[in-house]
Amino acid sequence: MQEPFNAEPPRSALVSSYVTPVELFFKRNHGPIPVVDDIERYCVDICGLIETPTKLYMRDVRMLPKYNVTATLQCAGNRRTAMSKTREVRGVGWDVSAIGNAVWGGAKLADVLELIGIPKLTSSTRSGGKYIEFVSIDKCKEENGGPYKASIPLSQATNPEADVLLAYEMNGEPLNRDHGYPLRVIVPGVIGARSVKWLDSINIIAEECQGFFMQKDYKMFPPSVDWDNINWNTRKPQMDFPVQSVICSLEDVQPIKPGKVTISGYAVAGGDRGIERVDISINGGKTWMEATRFQKTGIPYIADHISSDKWAWVLFEIIVNIPHTTEIVVKAVDSAANVQPERVQDIWNLRGILNTSWHRVHVRVGHSNM
Ligand code: MTE
Repeated sequence: MQEPFNAEPPRSALVSSYVTPVELFFKRNHGPIPVVDDIERYCVDICGLIETPTKLYMRDVRMLPKYNVTATLQCAGNRRTAMSKTREVRGVGWDVSAIGNAVWGGAKLADVLELIGIPKLTSSTRSGGKYIEFVSIDKCKEENGGPYKASIPLSQATNPEADVLLAYEMNGEPLNRDHGYPLRVIVPGVIGARSVKWLDSINIIAEECQGFFMQKDYKMFPPSVDWDNINWNTRKPQMDFPVQSVICSLEDVQPIKPGKVTISGYAVAGGDRGIERVDISINGGKTWMEATRFQKTGIPYIADHISSDKWAWVLFEIIVNIPHTTEIVVKAVDSAANVQPERVQDIWNLRGILNTSWHRVHVRVGHSNM
């Protein structure tokens, strides 16, 4: 079997634009990337607890109203490498760039489901369907050669405000193969693992998807749980991601000249929460200053305001004077006043997911040869 393709861009490139160009967007795969070339015959089977199973063709999806939703996709394993430095974890090593912000174009899942007779804002169908399962074309070894899959609650799938998309475009272009051509799911505000690429079928089911990535992976365990005492059933699959922020303009150990330094990066809140504040410290966390936040040029960012992209990251910037070697730290606060945890040790978990601890970079200030 070919190895899955995983890639992330350098952190400095990541925040050079609000919308991440496709070529800089991270790629996360659990199996070989499938090729779908017969687009006329390509269709999504909709089955399970519904009266009439249906086949959804690309032309059916395209006939529905098209929405462009700006949403940040973040892998739950973002910043895993830093977590593994405190204690070993299992999983792909990521720096800080397993994240990207794109404009996803497609039909709302709520409209698709309405087309097959499930009204908006439904939490249970007459035949007991409570979840929507997305099954992919790609096959992975974790599923013993079966397809990648995930589910979301029906109440979220049928809520037009949740903006769950069957997307066929990314940044105004047709999706490319790496990102799920011809059709993928986008579940805004939720860890990337639930945004299934290369959609093959949609099942309406009574219980959460029982696939590997829902039941035996992407769950957050306490630091006391290790591979000898783990009981996967004790935890729920991770859905929303917690508030996160990262400095991207500086490497972990950055040599600089004394003087003015621009500190910039991204902050993102899960669910539909906004970023209320981004705090920067230039003395390892003793004192803090507030950074400027922004999304679109010319429009001031206000958390949870109609003018903001509620599913998208917020970029931040501050210019500070750095006279000597120090540690620069960032932490963000979301609109529910959730704050990032200070220490990675306190949130360590064996799969190395959701490292949202304060992000620190060391700057070494020298006076020559820089
Ligand atoms: N969908 C399928 N079919 N196969 C996969 O391996 N990986 C998931 C999700 N959807 C995956 C998938 C994970 S873990 C993430 S983080 C996102 O896709 C990554 O999407 P991207 O590669 O477009 O950045």
